[in-house]
Amino acid sequence: MSLSALAVLDGTVLPADEATIGVTDLGLLRGDGVFEVIKIYDGRPFALDDHLRRMATSAKNLRLEIDLNAVRADVDALLTEAGPVSGAVRFLVSRGGRRIGLVEATPAAHPPLALARVEYVPPRILDGVKSLSYAGNMLAQRVAKERGADEALLVTPHGRVLEAPTSSFFVSFDGETLVTPPLSDRVLDSITRRRLLSLLPDAREEVVTADSLGRAREAFLASTTREVQAIARVDDVVLPVAPGPLTEAAARAFSAHVRDEIASA
Ligand SMILES: Cc1ncc(COP(=O)(O)O)c(C=O)c1O
Repeated sequence: MSLSALAVLDGTVLPADEATIGVTDLGLLRGDGVFEVIKIYDGRPFALDDHLRRMATSAKNLRLEIDLNAVRADVDALLTEAGPVSGAVRFLVSRGGRRIGLVEATPAAHPPLALARVEYVPPRILDGVKSLSYAGNMLAQRVAKERGADEALLVTPHGRVLEAPTSSFFVSFDGETLVTPPLSDRVLDSITRRRLLSLLPDAREEVVTADSLGRAREAFLASTTREVQAIARVDDVVLPVAPGPLTEAAARAFSAHVRDEIASA
């Protein structure tokens, strides 16, 4: 069975193309539900407890009942069947009460990215919810691609840089310290971002304005699937170096951290 072809639906592991849900599920009709994407290294999940914690918070804020023990058991069952694969597990819980897990491939290489700024206002009511309502994020990616970029950089109408549609943003203006927009700007409480902030002594939260990007020395996106991925340009601003030394150090520190945590699990 290929890497992307395995699923778990309400506790039953099966080929993904045999996993079906009812068309009246509000997860499908309204994007009403929660999800997580968990990185898998040789069959072992990284930061599974963090993902389950965030899913519980998302569900609570969305007034969605979920059985976290069942989610954990589903992930275990899926990984047992999948064997020592590397990739990701996408897990979602729908308003209709379906628990769905899928094994997905993740890109092997992460070349430096061209970003395009796309205007975006986070919906306040979804603060603290990683919901299935991601059409806006997906549209931002498509708009960025239409403009010849690889990925979007979400910026508010008032010019505050937030994040990318599925990753956090880090930038250095002085070549010594890294900053990432604060959670109070309504960016996702990303697990990778949180880990990097505690691993890197010279990284901190700080408001980033779009106007300041012209002074950036280096920058990167961070997420479960990308880990640390350098940014080569934002619109017509070409960064002096990609990957820069702080980006490379962050990537090394994060890889070592993942290796250690998985080895000690
Ligand atoms: C909007 C957004 N920001 C950031 C991230 C990165 O989060 P994490 O590091 O937990 O994967 C994601 C991941 O899906 C996301 O959707």
